Amino acid sequence: MSFATRWLGRPREHWAELGSTNDRAMAWARAGAPHGALVTADAQTAGRGRLGRAWASESGEDLYVSAILRPAPGKAIGALGLAVGVGLREGLARWLPAAQLKWPNDVLVDGRKLGGILCEARWVGTSPEVVVGFGVNVGRALFPGPLAQSATSLRRELEAATPSREEVLAQLLPALERALDAFFAGGFAAIRGRYEPHCALVGRAVLVDMSNGAGPKEQATALGLADDGALLVAPADGGPPRRVESGDVWLAP
Ligand code: BTN
Repeated sequence: MSFATRWLGRPREHWAELGSTNDRAMAWARAGAPHGALVTADAQTAGRGRLGRAWASESGEDLYVSAILRPAPGKAIGALGLAVGVGLREGLARWLPAAQLKWPNDVLVDGRKLGGILCEARWVGTSPEVVVGFGVNVGRALFPGPLAQSATSLRRELEAATPSREEVLAQLLPALERALDAFFAGGFAAIRGRYEPHCALVGRAVLVDMSNGAGPKEQATALGLADDGALLVAPADGGPPRRVESGDVWLAP
């Protein structure tokens, strides 16, 4: 399928099965694949999420996608994953207008996870070589174990017929390209207004883990996002607002 994009999605490799589309895209990038090249797979045997988590990828019914990006040298790319979230949410809005973003990189529907984003980069001299991977649950009706409560799919959310994975991809890529173009031109500040109103955390009580699991979670209220993509929180103990730049955040139960 060709996509209604200017640069994203060409060339494209599709695999029946891979370990991880991010790994394949990273190897392809090292071998010289251009900005916009795309890897997709029907299934992954070692799909990865953020913070060392696994991404269940065996179904053959969902989207596993990685894009190679070559931002201009010197561009700040710390908030690139947020830009990908903006693009995915806008692309999904045709089917799921109420989809939300959970800072930093999750797409949620009604609090359940529909998709996730994993950005990985290496530097070649001063030029970043980036792989942005995303998974979107499309056709899966059943999720094993705890995912039964915490995950969802287009199929579970839609009363109408579920679109095919290629249809979803064809909707997502142009929206993603628009969000990335805006981000590369103006940084996260240029798209903050397209993230913040759809952020599931803003205005809510949250638990913040800034230690990658090594320390206790802190209670706070999420205030909004800074121009560089940091999450701004007001600690529950009354201290001054703080910036959360990495780690994980949950809605307080
Ligand atoms: C997360 O929510 O923690 C991020 C999940 C990212 C999963 C996608 S699926 C395609 C790409 N390949 C991977 O191994 N991971 C990403």
